[in-house]
Amino acid sequence: MFWKTVFVILKFMSAQHANADPLVELENYLRFLKDSGYTEIPLEEDFNSLLCNRPITPSPVAQPISPPNTEVRMKKDRHDGDAAGRLQAVREEMGNCTRCKLSEGRANIVFGSGNPNARLMFVGEGPGADEDAQGLPFVGRAGKKLTEIIEKGIGLNREKDVYICNIVKCRPPGNRDPEKDEIEACQPFLLKQIEAIRPKVIVALGRPAASVLLGRKVAITKERGTWHDFHGSKLILTFHPAYLLRAYTLENRQAVFEDMKQALMELNR
Ligand code: URA
Repeated sequence: MFWKTVFVILKFMSAQHANADPLVELENYLRFLKDSGYTEIPLEEDFNSLLCNRPITPSPVAQPISPPNTEVRMKKDRHDGDAAGRLQAVREEMGNCTRCKLSEGRANIVFGSGNPNARLMFVGEGPGADEDAQGLPFVGRAGKKLTEIIEKGIGLNREKDVYICNIVKCRPPGNRDPEKDEIEACQPFLLKQIEAIRPKVIVALGRPAASVLLGRKVAITKERGTWHDFHGSKLILTFHPAYLLRAYTLENRQAVFEDMKQALMELNR
């Protein structure tokens, strides 16, 4: 009844306004809240002002990232070069990669997608069948959920405002977990992608991504929502959207929404 009333009021307001775009955005956000199990609208001042004033352009200042155990070396300022060019150089270095056995079964390398100048980066686990077929990350069911989290949840645009990639760039057969040697073969490229983009905030999606980035076993149910320094970027851990689809509980959906709010606040700090 509550949501029905809200949407009726919105429809009425849209009909009155020549430019209904902000109302459509508001409706998307409210539908996301409803789908996330909210029975009322959280009115934290911070979050509302963030959604209204969120910066669209990349931050002018970012800290250098200097991952250990790699040959990666960071420059001081994220704007001292061309992020797209740096990312392209990483892609070229990867080439038609055969560094691990995942190359044998793949249709396409799934390098990453989005804006190389993004201040927000998502790191998932590895491509599934849809991603392998299209050569793009998060385009299947879990991808749709991730897009919803990004666009309806925190009001950003998936192509313009974020960059998305995985810890391994080729599909593990039968969607099994990537193995240690496969993760190790791909890790330098993940680190170089992060170095090229220099995001202000990184969101690790699920246990494997969190464990790879932190270099230790992560208990994601205990550690989601926690912040870490990742060589100049801020890293937050959250559930993988595929887990959310499997365990579609109110608690899990709200947990991811809370984590995303934290990420958005950090972006705007
Ligand atoms: N799951 C992932 O972790 N990555 C994808 O690209 C798709 C599904």
